[in-house]
Amino acid sequence: QMLEDEVYQVVKTCRYTSWAFREIVCDHNYMEASDCSKTFRGHVPIYMISGTIKHPIDAGYRITTVVFFTPEERIMKATEAHQRGYGVGNTPTRVILRSSRSALATYTQTVAGVPMKVFKTSTIFEKQWLTARVDAVAACPVLDGHSVSFTPTMITWRLPQHIDPLMSSGRVQLLEVYLGINGQRLDPTEMPAKLSADVSYIIVQIPVGADGGYFKSHIQGNRYLLSYTIEPMLELLWTEDGEDTRYKVLFPITTPLLSLNLQVFDNTVPKQRVFKVVLGHFAPDVALMNITFPSEVLTIAQCHARGFNVREQVSPNSSLKVFILEVPFTDPAVLQSRGMGFIVYSLHLTFGLLVLNEFATFSHTAYLEATLEDRVPPSVSGGCDYQNFYVLVKHGTSDFNFQAMVGKRLLTPGLAQQYGYTENGTHFNLVVPFAAPDVEFEAITPTSIRTRIDVILKDPETNVPITDFSMACNFFLPLTECFPNGTITTLAVKLESVPSLNPSELTLHDPTCGPVYSDDRYAYFVFTANSCGTTRKFLPNAMLYENDISVPHDLETKSASDSEEAEFA
Ligand SMILES: *[C@@H]1O[C@H](CO)[C@@H](O)[C@H](O)[C@H]1NC(C)=O
Ligand SMILES: *[C@@H]1O[C@H](CO)[C@@H](O)[C@H](O)[C@H]1NC(C)=O
Ligand SMILES: *[C@@H]1O[C@H](CO)[C@@H](O)[C@H](O)[C@H]1NC(C)=O
Ligand SMILES: *[C@@H]1O[C@H](CO)[C@@H](O)[C@H](O)[C@H]1NC(C)=O
Repeated sequence: QMLEDEVYQVVKTCRYTSWAFREIVCDHNYMEASDCSKTFRGHVPIYMISGTIKHPIDAGYRITTVVFFTPEERIMKATEAHQRGYGVGNTPTRVILRSSRSALATYTQTVAGVPMKVFKTSTIFEKQWLTARVDAVAACPVLDGHSVSFTPTMITWRLPQHIDPLMSSGRVQLLEVYLGINGQRLDPTEMPAKLSADVSYIIVQIPVGADGGYFKSHIQGNRYLLSYTIEPMLELLWTEDGEDTRYKVLFPITTPLLSLNLQVFDNTVPKQRVFKVVLGHFAPDVALMNITFPSEVLTIAQCHARGFNVREQVSPNSSLKVFILEVPFTDPAVLQSRGMGFIVYSLHLTFGLLVLNEFATFSHTAYLEATLEDRVPPSVSGGCDYQNFYVLVKHGTSDFNFQAMVGKRLLTPGLAQQYGYTENGTHFNLVVPFAAPDVEFEAITPTSIRTRIDVILKDPETNVPITDFSMACNFFLPLTECFPNGTITTLAVKLESVPSLNPSELTLHDPTCGPVYSDDRYAYFVFTANSCGTTRKFLPNAMLYENDISVPHDLETKSASDSEEAEFA
């Protein structure tokens, strides 16, 4: 692809300050079409001098020869200088000279410890037998350990105050100093960089990461390194013996490779049951490609589909960024191991990363662990023997506070005591008689009764049940007894399925025969074989007496009936 094919038209209006007597620009190689710098910015110009000619040269004078001092004199025809890439030109009042940084016509001179490239010339104008000579010199600092020093957080650039090759006398007065970044003067209030001076130097201090510069990533082995590049600019205006000089240096600086020691910040709050991992810091040119878990590799899209939150965040005080990953504890990638009353969640992962411009891959491994108290809810179990229910309640972990209900009643300390409450630190026991007021009668047969105990453990604040437990058992219980003297006793019980029954209203077949004792759950009848409407049947080897218990017709608004049979052997 040929660059020559790309033509861009740019319109921009630039305002210039008036020319100084002498203008010196130390620039570097780059193209910028819209720039308003006075400098010609092409592929060669590095140093440019533009100077006023003291005695304006008439028309007819031409540049014929250029003398370069390296520092020895080298005399070159103007045409040859052009061919060799030097810029040599003039207007009636100004001469303009340009050289690349590496040109042979430059030499290095140390000024106050700082090496500077010096471009020193004499330009010879000729017109028939007349000649005129204009001297010009530029000196530009070279980036080395004397001009720039680095700490991991600060770049310090020193420019000599007295640039000997440009100043011939001691009568130099510095009028203006401006600091800029990327060719633009900075407003001193918004400056990320600091300008100061001591006896010998103008000192520019720029924090690593300041606005206007950029970070770049480098991978060495699997090590992540960064460099930071910024181009500060100094513009000086001084006067010496009535002649002013504007001096402008654009000075790109790249730090040595910095090792940031990639860090994994574990921002997990175990109670939220999500691992929050922050990995950083990275230059903007790094992309997170995938994450390797012990049993699989997921791309970032797959991570999102899986419900992981993956995002990047630029840190507010630098242009570096971090990657943030959130993985719920419930995800299969999270391993769990149980200890005494706690669970340890752990997450092993490897971030697969890519430096975008260079397609250099690298990875970073992280291991996270979070411990949570094991949440075990309380539980209930039980059994029964011939007359009691035995209820065993196992306490859960301390975050489960609960209240117990037995049947429809809250297990108050009083009730607990009634039911033989015992507690050993991890469990408590209740012994509830099969016909206790808090059990329900489910069914009866002539010789047994089936009753059920319900135990509910609920949250005392929300009343939400945590566990409910029900157990029904058959207990042997002859409800009807016949005595040799002809007395029959029978117990009628109110079943759970007929909640509206009032046992005291029950009668035998003869409605005048009511219970001798009744309460809200029982009616107890005592009668003889020849009374209360008892009938008799002869069986092959026994006699069967039958009566029935019901609510008399006029009271029988709700269906309820029961029948008792007694058999004499
Ligand atoms: C950014 O600021 C935070 C707090 O404001 C500080 O902890 C952190 O070290 C800073 N980071 C950089 C790269 O300066
Ligand atoms: C994960 O990403 C890294 C870094 O870009 C890459 O080298 C690796 O091949 C990727 N792994 C898979 C399984 O795609
Ligand atoms: C408490 O009693 C339960 C049930 O009898 C038993 O399993 C448990 O080990 C006992 N705990 C202690 C600390 O004795
Ligand atoms: C019949 O016997 C039972 C049990 O021995 C007794 O409670 C009851 O009083 C006796 N009835 C009569 C009428 O003697």
